[in-house]
Amino acid sequence: MTEESQSTGNGRGTTAAGAESLSVTDNRTGQSYEVEIEDGTVRAMDFRQIKVDEDDFGLMTYDPGYSNTASCRSAITYIDGEKGILEHRGIPIEQLCEHSSYLEVAYLLNYGRLPTEDELNRWTYEITHHTYVHENIKNFMNGFRHDANPMGMLQASVGALSTFYPEAQDIDDEYQRHVAAVRLIAKMPTLAAFAYRHSLGLPYVYPDNDLSYAGNFLSMLFKMAEPKYEPDPRLEKALDVLFILHADHEQNCSAAAVRVVGSSRVDPFSAIAAGCAGLYGPLHGGANVAVLRMLQRIGTTDNVPDFLEGVKQGDERLMGFGHRVYKNYDPRARIIRSHVDEVLEATNKESPLLDIAIELEKRALDDDYFTSRKLYPNVDFYSGLIYEALGIPTDAFTVMFAIPRTSGWMAQWMEMMDDPELKIARPRQIYTGPRDADYVPIDER
Ligand code: CMC
Repeated sequence: MTEESQSTGNGRGTTAAGAESLSVTDNRTGQSYEVEIEDGTVRAMDFRQIKVDEDDFGLMTYDPGYSNTASCRSAITYIDGEKGILEHRGIPIEQLCEHSSYLEVAYLLNYGRLPTEDELNRWTYEITHHTYVHENIKNFMNGFRHDANPMGMLQASVGALSTFYPEAQDIDDEYQRHVAAVRLIAKMPTLAAFAYRHSLGLPYVYPDNDLSYAGNFLSMLFKMAEPKYEPDPRLEKALDVLFILHADHEQNCSAAAVRVVGSSRVDPFSAIAAGCAGLYGPLHGGANVAVLRMLQRIGTTDNVPDFLEGVKQGDERLMGFGHRVYKNYDPRARIIRSHVDEVLEATNKESPLLDIAIELEKRALDDDYFTSRKLYPNVDFYSGLIYEALGIPTDAFTVMFAIPRTSGWMAQWMEMMDDPELKIARPRQIYTGPRDADYVPIDER
């Protein structure tokens, strides 16, 4: 930023050096400044030069919830929230769901391009052969109460993995980064399935290397006494598509948590455990649980109008609706919706909750309260119905989100590690508390 007493622009809003710029006048001092605009963005640190006098700290920007602050440059995921577009490395999500597989998408996110056939085979082999966890992790899982929330178990055990792989602390080593990504993507379904079986008091099922990533996960969840679990290909495909849809979503709460924690140069297992914690919350990955509970509470389609009235009065929130970025139909919700019927057919189930969800969507999209606020179904609106049909307990839904999101978190972490502008995350605050207060001895309070 340059300080100026008059505009130095060339008439097209550019600096003398030709860069696009913003002119700011500080009405406290009458001083004008020229701030460079790059990629539609101004640098917050440029405003620090704006001071009333030499002792002034300088101007800060205030942005609770980071609604309008870009925290990094990223080439992983592109979202156009107004148009409802989602692309990974430039490829539309619709094409990935139709032609790709979750493991291929995980490679794409982490390594920046689609793999060749050899690369994909090697990657799949590596992931498949890292699915086992140390037996002590199993013992660690056994320590949880029988009714422990599976997501709580998952985040704790992912954090615990960092103690099993101390070499992962060598975060500048390319190989260590790669093998940590492989381990995390490979072991997440194992940990998730162990957490699920623990909650039911069932013995843990070890990974089956003959099965696909999704097929093996179904086996670890549902295999009983049969010598070999044969996954239904329709469920395997639907689960793989769900995994693709949840793989990454740029700088959301959990990805931001991974980057913030990772910026301290902690190992990736610990950074991903922070991502799990972020995802756990009901406004983020926990929303799929909240949606199902909401549908159960509504009970029948007849109760939908009253429920929506409660939402409009501010007594309720329509879970699975609305998004910080999408101001249009979430493209992931559209794809998930198209798989619900197929899963119900494969599992031979009827879902009265689906009728309630359809009625809610129809009425909400016909109501000015929702349309004027651009509230549309998001990824969580229909995903819970598929998980329910698969026989996943409601408490374990967020774990189903965490499994695929691991590839996105790792991609965000890897990209951050190579960012020349990386600094430890350390936001500022506006202090509102007292100053110069004196300590009061306890017997005088
Ligand atoms: N039901 C009713 N009203 C809503 C909803 C909702 N689901 N979402 C937003 N609004 C209203 C909100 O009350 C506000 O109204 P007003 O302007 O009158 O105060 C307006 O819409 C703007 O909402 P906001 O809370 O300022 O928006 P945000 O960007 O801070 O919140 C959100 C985004 C996703 C947290 C929010 O839409 C929400 O709570 N949705 C329900 C939870 C949910 O489905 N979360 C999953 C998100 S997608 C998956 C993921 O990323 O994890």
